[in-house]
Amino acid sequence: MTKWDPDRYEEFFGERIQPAHDLMARIEISGSGLIVDLGCGTGRLTAELAIRWPDASVIGIDRSPEMIAVAPRTGVTYELADIESWSPATPVRLIYANSSLHWIPDHPALFPRLVETLAPDGVLAVQMPLSWDQPSHRTLRDVGTEYDIEIASPPTLAPNDYNEILTERAGRTEVWVTTYYHVLRGENPVFRWVSATGVKRFLDRLPERHHAAYLEECARRITAAYPPNSRGETVFPFNRLFILARSQS
Ligand SMILES: C[S@@+](CC[C@H](N)C(=O)[O-])C[C@H]1O[C@@H](n2cnc3c(N)ncnc32)[C@H](O)[C@@H]1O
Repeated sequence: MTKWDPDRYEEFFGERIQPAHDLMARIEISGSGLIVDLGCGTGRLTAELAIRWPDASVIGIDRSPEMIAVAPRTGVTYELADIESWSPATPVRLIYANSSLHWIPDHPALFPRLVETLAPDGVLAVQMPLSWDQPSHRTLRDVGTEYDIEIASPPTLAPNDYNEILTERAGRTEVWVTTYYHVLRGENPVFRWVSATGVKRFLDRLPERHHAAYLEECARRITAAYPPNSRGETVFPFNRLFILARSQS
């Protein structure tokens, strides 16, 4: 499995953090208890959770030692663990999962399982990219098929499916989608963006001897799909799915 690279991931952190903040702004919980940042990556958001809810115990969970190694330690702890097998020792007041659960399979089983770990009136707050149909991610798949890599279905369900799978377990569920129009600068920024994240699914399935050629072809096609404007800026429209579920009180 290819490693996560914190420096590459954070190159566009200003853009990546916007939906994370939009999700955080919609969470209404008070007081103490356990807050878990699931798939916490470089821990910047974990630290923000601890500032926003100073009376809570905040834990960041991730399976990448490279990402956790650079995470800020103030007011939070981290555990190296796989979300697929993770379960908390005590009921959780808030599970916050920004841009991580689309890496985990079987959402019809995962989401109800996460809601069941919540304390009464606890919150599951999730943001995931809806990038399957974007030219950037279609290109990764198109080039992948030339190397016999077929990824047949998106990593997320249709937005309303989350209402359906959560409605019986959660007291109240809200689902919404937002398109961000990121204005990026520099050489082929959309390729640089996806090469820190989405490309991993393909490199993980591709023998290493093909990595350079695969990346080169993706870079060529993505530049053509996202030409810069006259100011040298590249606009990258990006869809994000948000889910907020509150457990029964
Ligand atoms: C796109 S990053 C998001 C990091 C952070 N939440 C943020 O918004 O900055 C995705 C993170 O999910 C983690 N991840 C992916 N699959 C995982 C799994 N099965 N168990 C634990 N962490 C996982 C990766 O290691 C990576 O740090």
